[in-house]
Order: sequence, then C-alpha cells, then structure tokens
Amino acid sequence: MLDDGLQAEVQAELAEHYTLERELPRGGMSRVFVATEKALRRRVVIKVLAPELAASLSAERFKREIALAARLQHPHIVLLLSAGQAGVHLYYTMPFVDGESLRQRIDRERPMAFADIATILEQVSGALAYAHEEGIVHRDIKPENVMFYHGQAVVLDFGIGKALISASTTEMEAEIMRITQVGMSLGTPTYVAPEQAAADPALDHRADLYALGVVAYEMITGHPPFAGRSPQAVIEAHAKQLPEPIASKRPDVPKHLAAIVMRSLAKRPADRPASGDEIAKAVSLSVRPRHSGGGPVVEKIANAPLWIPWTIAGVMMVVAIAMGILYATR
Ligand SMILES: Nc1ncnc2c1ncn2[C@@H]1O[C@H](COP(=O)(O)OP(=O)(O)OP(=O)(O)O)[C@@H](O)[C@H]1O
Ligand SMILES: [Mg+2]
Repeated sequence: MLDDGLQAEVQAELAEHYTLERELPRGGMSRVFVATEKALRRRVVIKVLAPELAASLSAERFKREIALAARLQHPHIVLLLSAGQAGVHLYYTMPFVDGESLRQRIDRERPMAFADIATILEQVSGALAYAHEEGIVHRDIKPENVMFYHGQAVVLDFGIGKALISASTTEMEAEIMRITQVGMSLGTPTYVAPEQAAADPALDHRADLYALGVVAYEMITGHPPFAGRSPQAVIEAHAKQLPEPIASKRPDVPKHLAAIVMRSLAKRPADRPASGDEIAKAVSLSVRPRHSGGGPVVEKIANAPLWIPWTIAGVMMVVAIAMGILYATR
C-alpha cells in the first residue's frame, strides 16, 4: 500500500538510472521496490530505508559500512549492487531474486524433508562461514532473509544491521540498537540470540549461528523453539529456557542433526559450534551415510561396492546353467 509520496520521490531522484515497477510486500522497516536498471536493462530490487530510520543515520557512515558488505561475493549470498541517497532517502540495490523465500517454503511444507533441510543448512552455514571470515556478521538471519534462486538458498541483507548501528548518531544509538537487535521485521525476537537481545557489545558471529539454529529448529519441527508469546517473553525464553528436544517433536530426526542444531541454540556463545563450517560438516555427516569421501549421495551410489553387480551376475549365471541342464535332460 502506498501511503505516502516515498515511491514518487525515490523515482524522481533516481529517474536517470532506474524505473520503479512495483513494491514488494513490506517485511521490516524498509520499503522494497522491483525496478529496472536502465543501463543494463536488468531487474533489480531497491531497498529504501524507512525515513524515520534514515533521519537518525549518518549517510556517509551508512554508505561506508554498506561498502564493506558489498565486498561479499559468494554463491549463497545475494550481491549488493549499489548504495546511495535519493533525496533524503537512503537506499541500496541488489539483484531481483525471482523465487520464493524460506518463510514461504516452511509455511507450505511444514515440516520439511530432512534432505532439503540439510542442503539449505549446508548452503546457508557455508555463506555464514565465508562472511564471518570476512569479518561481517549478518545480525538478522531469519527465513524471510533466505530466498531460493534456481533451487539454491541465497542469503539477503548481509551487513545491513551493522551498517545501521555504525551509522547511527550517538543519541539515536540506543534506539537503533533496540530496533535492529531485536529483529526489524515484525518486532519479533524469534531468531535473536540471548546476547543480541541484551545488546551485548561483544556480540560476534556466533549470534548468527544461534539464529541459524532457530531457523533449523523451525524447518525440522515446523515451529521455532520460542514463539507465540509477547516479545519480552520470547527474549526471556531465549535467555533462560531450554528448547524442547527436537526428537520429542519429530522422533525420526537424524540424531546428529538434532545434536548440532541444539548445540547452535546454546545460551552461551562458547558452547555453540565455533563456525558455520563446523555446522555444515556436522549436517552433511548427519543425514548422509559416512563413506571415505564424504561426498553426496549420488556419488555414493556410483561408488557402491563392486560385489553387488558381481553377485547379480553370478546368480544369473547359475540360473542360466540350471535352465540349460533342465532343457538338456528333457
Ligand atoms: N532481492 C530481492 N528479490 C526478491 N524479493 C526480495 C528481495 N529482497 C527482499 N525481497 C522481498 O521483499 C519483502 C520485504 O523484504 P524486507 O527485507 O524489507 O523484509 P524482511 O526480510 O522481513 O525484514 P528485514 O528488513 O529485517 O530484512 C520480503 O518478502 C522479501 O522476500
Ligand atoms: Mg530482508
């Protein structure tokens, strides 16, 4: 719903380079438009920060911080294309992902198949491992920020939370921290790690691993570990309450998959897996039978032990000989 002149203003400011086509359903605090980038005739998404947010930001610092996130290039991360200012509005652009979000998939399939869950977790935790090595924490991992593009999971909005915090003027810092730390979407802290909800300045990449743990828990059981109550109650549950064991909600869960997800949900960052790579490896081993190479299932079928075809050939030969004898003795 266009309740103000924001779209017209942005369109007027960016007319030389973009034609805004339509607005996507609003999720967080921003407005998101599908547009055509004129020079390259490609579809992009322009994400415009909410004016109340932009008003409290230093545009220069926001752009500097966005430039850090723009360095990220990974098959499972949606690239940042550009960032700038359209009049009073701060925006950034990225490719238009013509696919559904993990939110839509969870809601449709609830609960999802283990093989799909494993693939998604491997891809997203691989993206996290890479970004974390580059020194960038996402801070807003949730099913809305994962989409599917040609069957691959891709993570959106990397580094934006940090850019908002870094760019906030001192007097607004507390407010920005409050908004971004507690999750910008519906004001729900469903995916927020305990230390992030407590606005711990020492927050590091393990807050993303916790959020991924919540997403994994939701993919497996159909529901996040703590939800359905007031935001305050959910924050308190993240800090103090143990999530119900996954197996009690979905008994056929592979044991090691449940274990790595539960470890990601540890209250203390030190008790969580150390990296996205550790999660990716554990997930891969948990749902696929071990073999020396650790490769995908298809590979394993191709590498099936040689005694299988030989045994089949042997049995067929015995049957043929027996039939020959039978025929000869008639
Ligand atoms: N690059 C993109 N391509 C296609 N759809 C997108 C793209 N970026 C965002 N969307 C869609 O636009 C909608 C709004 O996105 P937005 O990021 O504003 O909300 P959100 O992810 O819920 O909140 P947050 O601000 O915390 O990321 C969502 O439905 C999202 O799936
Ligand atoms: Mg988003």
